[in-house]
Amino acid sequence: MQDITVSRADNGVATLTFDLQGEKVNKLTGEVLKKLESVIDQLAVDTRVKALVLKSAKPGIFIAGADISEIDSITDEKDGVVKAEFGQAIINKLERLPFPKLAVIDGACLGGGLELVLACDFRLASDSKKTLIGLPEVNLGIIPGFGGTQRLPRLVGLQVGLELILAGKTLKGAQAHRKGVVDKCVPQAFINDEAEKFVSAMLSTGGVDALKRKRKKRGAMDRFWPGTSLVCWVAKKQLIKKTQGHYPAPLAALKVIRKTYQGNITKGLKVEAKAFSELVPTTISKNLVQLFYTHESLKKYTGVSSDIAVPSQVRQASVVGAGLMGGGIAWALSNKGIAVRLKDIQWGAIAKGLESAAEVFYKGVKRRKLSRVEAGLKLGLISGATDFSGFQSSNIVIEAIPENMGLKKKIFQEMESNCPEATIIASNTSALSISEMASDLRHPDRFIGMHFFSPVHRMPLVEVIPGEKTSPETIAATVQLAKRMGKTPIVIQNCPGFLINRILLPYVSEAVYLLGDGATIQTIDSIAVKFGMPLGPLALADEVGLDVGIKVTQILEQGYGDRMKSPPLFKKVVEDKELLGKKTNEGFYRYMDKHKVPSEKMMRLIKSESPNNSSYKPTTDVIRDRLILIMVNEAARCLEEGIVEKAEYLDMAMIMGTGFPPFRGGLLRYADQQGISGIVERLQQLADITSNRFKPASILIEMARLNQTFYK
Ligand SMILES: NC(=O)c1ccc[n+]([C@@H]2O[C@H](COP(=O)([O-])OP(=O)(O)OC[C@H]3O[C@@H](n4cnc5c(N)ncnc54)[C@H](O)[C@@H]3O)[C@@H](O)[C@H]2O)c1
Repeated sequence: MQDITVSRADNGVATLTFDLQGEKVNKLTGEVLKKLESVIDQLAVDTRVKALVLKSAKPGIFIAGADISEIDSITDEKDGVVKAEFGQAIINKLERLPFPKLAVIDGACLGGGLELVLACDFRLASDSKKTLIGLPEVNLGIIPGFGGTQRLPRLVGLQVGLELILAGKTLKGAQAHRKGVVDKCVPQAFINDEAEKFVSAMLSTGGVDALKRKRKKRGAMDRFWPGTSLVCWVAKKQLIKKTQGHYPAPLAALKVIRKTYQGNITKGLKVEAKAFSELVPTTISKNLVQLFYTHESLKKYTGVSSDIAVPSQVRQASVVGAGLMGGGIAWALSNKGIAVRLKDIQWGAIAKGLESAAEVFYKGVKRRKLSRVEAGLKLGLISGATDFSGFQSSNIVIEAIPENMGLKKKIFQEMESNCPEATIIASNTSALSISEMASDLRHPDRFIGMHFFSPVHRMPLVEVIPGEKTSPETIAATVQLAKRMGKTPIVIQNCPGFLINRILLPYVSEAVYLLGDGATIQTIDSIAVKFGMPLGPLALADEVGLDVGIKVTQILEQGYGDRMKSPPLFKKVVEDKELLGKKTNEGFYRYMDKHKVPSEKMMRLIKSESPNNSSYKPTTDVIRDRLILIMVNEAARCLEEGIVEKAEYLDMAMIMGTGFPPFRGGLLRYADQQGISGIVERLQQLADITSNRFKPASILIEMARLNQTFYK
């Protein structure tokens, strides 16, 4: 048994098969590349070979990419150039083999895998769901280093090449065919027959040229310098808009492609290797690689210890409350084939819930993510009710009614009487205590918090919150269901605000305190966005709705006292009722057709609330630190109290639940990179000039004393 085998048929067609021994996936490690080189060298001198077919023996995987741990181990540019040029040289050798080559892709063909097959003359892909093709390197803060920036744009044209490489997009077989990355997409069941036919066509006289002529011609923009220059200019503008310049890798890829697209590929490969080597040792790339590892480890996460039996799968679910969240949760369940009964007190609300689910499905149809029939079938899985009919066959009921303890407790008791004993009862509460909600239940062991984020179809995080009496089986089943719904669940211990709201709301409140200290709405938000946050805290408050946000700040104030005191301005806003954010067209901003301006009414309210006669004027650095360090301090406390198991999970939760900038690696990684003692010192300074809100968490003080970091 070998990692790479070659067989040769009587007709001269050799087949090279990848099957990394002892591994679930094929990857291009340094060792594998060496073996591949020796196989290619032998093929190069074998005069009996007329054509070569590249395949994988692993189901669902062609080649998943280069070995990420090897990429991660590169710590200087010199090493980066050596590694890139080593891979490039072997792939060049494959390209130069004196006979036509066909790659048969049935499964993931990503990064180095795609770079390898781009050196073949032709590519055939299966229509399997597992066939994913692309160059996702920018997601790890690097660029393709084995020729991807050279061969892909030359094959598919500049515009499509940039679109795929700069966004790190992956394509299914049919999409890859439409974009010209593969020559044909065929049903998985017939891929071997199709490969045989393709090889015959390749071997027929003039076959290779005839097959290449079938490819779509490249666009007119590709042929002349002004056209290519314009395409690159537009791509750069879009990139800057999308990333605010925080991610150097796509910009570097663009620069490499712009410089080398129309030139000699040998020179192009050198430029690519250099750019790759400059990116790979950067902190941003290392941060993104670490997040990739955490993401992978969360795929195996069960939320409980390994001796808990795997729960049986949810077949049917009910959702109570067909509002914004209930409609979204019903969509997420039916999208994965789970039948849903959607209950509300009024049919009008159910119709709205169904409409919002339908809208998401049909957007998917428009983007060709699913067919019209599939969308119809999925939507058909949701049925409505104003009573508890259908609840008897539900394995789980998810509650999403308004945030009111009394109302929720009442409905949980009704659910208990209307569901079988084994049914899990989950609440989507944003901040109410799970243990308190379960306190009147006969079976609190099957009660749990399952906190989705809005909009449900886009936000990947689910906080899974066990109460004091929740059983491990209930936790395991809830984690399993959330994963099946395509989400990333993380178990959070019950505390006011759970993890995300507990850390994020102080960011919003701090912005309001800053307004009181004389900073402007635009300055505060733009400093946060410049740091990398997807939205400034005040724009975020408007999105969520100030009434909703204020309720959570009040729960936090009750739970944590002075350090989370809800800003007095909030109380005025609620009284006003017209400044509730986007939903009333005015909050911190006034919303016009396509743009927003700071609300004058809100500014008057701020002035009347805080005349700000003091000489204290927060500078840019102070504003940034007040917004970010207030979160760091709370995150540290959460870790200290065991609200979340590990720093990695906390960082990932913040990225997935709030859009905290991935290039920074997470809040706690940011703290490590700034230096814990520096953070403590800064918090103390802020505490001295503002308030006790910034009193450093004891864990930070202790870590600074012992010179420790959150990550090894
Ligand atoms: N809106 C968010 O961004 C968000 C995010 C996460 C969690 N949550 C939480 O989700 C829950 C629901 O929030 P929402 O924004 O979807 O509210 P919503 O007001 O949009 O919807 C609530 C729905 O519940 C229905 N309802 C009220 N009483 C009911 C009852 N007794 N039985 C059945 N249905 C009833 C209402 O008719 C309404 O359709 C709240 O606990 C909220 O804190 C909200």
